[in-house]
Amino acid sequence: MIKVKNVYKRFGIKNVLCGINFDISSKEIVVILGSSGIGKSVLLKIIVGLLKPDAGTVEIDNINITKCSTFDLQRIRRKIGYVFQEAALFDSLTVYENIAFGLKMFTTFTEDEIKFRVIECLKIVNLEGIEHLKPYELSGGMKKRTALARAIAYNPNYVLCDEPTMGLDIVMIHKINKLIIDLKKKGITSIVVTHDIKSAYEIADRILLLYDGKIIFNGTPLAIKYYENDYIKKLIKYSQIYEKYDK
Ligand SMILES: Nc1ncnc2c1ncn2[C@@H]1O[C@H](COP(=O)(O)OP(=O)(O)OP(=O)(O)O)[C@@H](O)[C@H]1O
Ligand SMILES: [Mg+2]
Repeated sequence: MIKVKNVYKRFGIKNVLCGINFDISSKEIVVILGSSGIGKSVLLKIIVGLLKPDAGTVEIDNINITKCSTFDLQRIRRKIGYVFQEAALFDSLTVYENIAFGLKMFTTFTEDEIKFRVIECLKIVNLEGIEHLKPYELSGGMKKRTALARAIAYNPNYVLCDEPTMGLDIVMIHKINKLIIDLKKKGITSIVVTHDIKSAYEIADRILLLYDGKIIFNGTPLAIKYYENDYIKKLIKYSQIYEKYDK
């Protein structure tokens, strides 16, 4: 269970988050929508404990991560797989080493078990056989999928993905969406930030819309279709334009 209570964050004179409140139950897939620069990545980073809010709290499994000890924060972080917007792979490590990193840190797996799991996760994201490559040898979409494989490798309870399908082709987008739905079936709770309304419809149990520092919509994918908001109307309108060509 994740509880975000009255979270505020500003950078200089810019108020980015101005009283954010929402809860996420276990096994839910919650999608966060909002225009570029509105604060979605900042919100995810606060939830994972990479940024501190100026006010308010984030509770994960009843631990207030904004106030807890470093030990507790590390313990909570082990429950979370995080996919950064820019993938954020370790440049000097191979794909194998990037994915094995969390397994070595957070599990008691043997070398053979780690090898098995790395290969298994690469298969899940359709990247078999690239273990030996370094991040500079990967395309943008390959980096993103490697980051996703790294995030799911150690079986976290929560997966937080910042634009997991950015830069992917439509077949791969569908595959990643299916993966997120499969994670839910295994009991994993996900928060996904995306600009892709079709993906939001495909995977979300609930959608949050971030606007002007606040969550102004918190409801089902069906309900958001009828929500009066310019940004949502544009997202839907442009996705329908492409549907015309899909037929
Ligand atoms: N570390 C930081 N220092 C100063 N300002 C920051 C920092 N991180 C984010 N910001 C500012 O906070 C605002 C929200 O940024 P954020 O990255 O959360 O946007 P976003 O909604 O994820 O946008 P996008 O969809 O383009 O990724 C932006 O104005 C950004 O410049
Ligand atoms: Mg962002």
